[in-house]
Formats: sequence, structure tokens, C-alpha cells
Amino acid sequence: MPESGARAGTGLAEATEREFPVPTPLDGHGPARIIAMANQKGGVGKTTTTINLGAALAEYGRRVLLVDFDPQGAASAGLGINAHELDRTIYNLLMEPRSDVREIIERTTVENLDVVPANIDLSAAEVQLVNEVAREQALARVLRPVQDDYDVILIDCQPSLGLLTVNALAAAHGVLIPLEAEFFALRGVALLVETIEKVQERINPRLRIDGILATMVDLRTLHSREVIERVQQAFGEKVFDTMISRTVKFPDASVASEPITSYAPSHPGAEAYRRLARELVARGDAA
Ligand SMILES: Nc1ncnc2c1ncn2[C@@H]1O[C@H](COP(=O)(O)OP(=O)(O)OP(=O)(O)O)[C@@H](O)[C@H]1O
Ligand SMILES: [Mg+2]
Repeated sequence: MPESGARAGTGLAEATEREFPVPTPLDGHGPARIIAMANQKGGVGKTTTTINLGAALAEYGRRVLLVDFDPQGAASAGLGINAHELDRTIYNLLMEPRSDVREIIERTTVENLDVVPANIDLSAAEVQLVNEVAREQALARVLRPVQDDYDVILIDCQPSLGLLTVNALAAAHGVLIPLEAEFFALRGVALLVETIEKVQERINPRLRIDGILATMVDLRTLHSREVIERVQQAFGEKVFDTMISRTVKFPDASVASEPITSYAPSHPGAEAYRRLARELVARGDAA
């Protein structure tokens, strides 16, 4: 567990007001830092964060690859890619050792933002991988050839702690945990942290928790503020200062198959994900 109470008393006001510098332009690209968005609880904002953090980093000139690692294909759909009509997706990359990720990568309408799509085929991988050699390392192997082409690779995990999520953790440098600001948010996080620690000990020593991101926050309610304070007490400095407010603009943007940063560029929700991108770079968790 991260050091607890490290920032107790820091207070919400400071967290919401601190500014982070605009990232300096990069001379070249790569090698990518790989970040997995993980929380086995469903509907906490993993996909929304993958898409919008990715788009915000891309706006800052970072080359970003999103890996849709959920058979629901929400990250692909959210970027306008009709993955259900694709014959070849992340599933084929996992199951065919000689396949090349560069043949599967799709461009998106956002400059500097590419995606490895997923569809329902991926649900079979969980079962089929079990019998493979180095079954936890399949995604790491898939990503290796393009690691030097991107600055950041974001993996959108499905809501489970199964073999696919373990593959994401095995491939990653860091984990970003989106946490919905509601009363039972912390339930299950201990199990997630335990899983992360096991992967770190047994498979991927470089893995660390980059941070906890409070999502669907409504700071006007006492309830939301109390939940955030409890999360800050439990995780200290691991909690991002940036929080994502609850707004219908996020579901609206996904219906439009666009990141909020292009769907509603000046909306506070777009600005929040840009701030998260700046915070991530300021912390050294992205180039
Ligand atoms: N800050 C927000 N405010 C309001 N709605 C949001 C916010 N973030 C996400 N949503 C909406 O909540 C729903 C769940 O979000 P999202 O799909 O990002 O979660 P998830 O963790 O990826 O879910 P799953 O576990 O099913 O993959 C979506 O309809 C999304 O548009
Ligand atoms: Mg999702």
C-alpha cells in the first residue's frame, strides 16, 4: 500500500488549485512509458480516462497509442472505430506470435493518437491464453515492436482481475486507478493493490502505481468531498490533484465517438483531462 496519510491535511482546495506547467515539446519520440488503466469495478471511468487522457497528451504533441483491452471495445468505439467489423484485432496479436501490431494499429481523427482495436473476439483470449507458454507476457510481446514509436501507451483494461488484466499489468510501467467518487469506491481497491503487488513481485518488478484518479466528482456535495478526503487519507500523494467532475458531456462525447477535448474543447471536462496530462508529465509519469 502507498504511504498513508502522507498528504493528510493538504486539503481539497490546494489540490484543486495547484497548476502544472504545459509540457515542453519533445525533440524525438519514444521509448513509450506504458500505463494501464485498471479497476475491476465496472463503470468507474477507465475507458473515458484512456480516451481523454490520451487525446490530451496527443494535443501536447505526445505520440500516443491506446490499446483497447476490453472485449466490449468501448475505447475503439469511443474513437469512431467500428471494431466489430474488423477481422483482425488485438485478439489476433495475442494468439499469433508472428503477427505484427503495426498491421493492426488504426489512426484516429485526433492527430498523434492511434489505437489497437478490440472486439468480442478478445473474450476468447482469456481462456485460450491459459495454455500458452508465458501466458502473462503476451501483451508485452505484442507491444515491444512499437515501443520506440510512441511516447505513451495507454491500456484500457476490462473490469476484472483476470488474465487479460494481468497481461496489462505485466506489460506496464505504471497503473492509473480511476475511482468513482461514491461511498463504496474503496471497496475492492485493496484486492486490486494486492494483484498489482503480486505482478510486481513475480513478473514485472518495474511496475508501480502511478496514481489514483477521482472521477465523477461533484464537489458541491458534502458526500463527494468526504469520499475524496477518505481516498486522500488512504493513498496520500498517490491521489492526483486533478479530479474529474461528473458531467453529461462525457457520455455525449462517447455517443459522438470523439474525445471530449475535440467534441467540447473548452468544456471544463476537457480542461480537466488536459490538467491530468500536465500533472502526469510534471510527476514524471509520462514524457
Ligand atoms: N466524469 C464523468 N461524468 C459523467 N459520466 C461519466 C464520467 N466519466 C465516465 N462517465 C460515463 O460513465 C459510464 C462509464 O464510464 P467508462 O466507460 O469510462 O467506465 P469504465 O470503467 O471503462 O467501465 P467498464 O468497467 O464497463 O469498462 C460511461 O457512460 C461514461 O460516459
Ligand atoms: Mg471500459
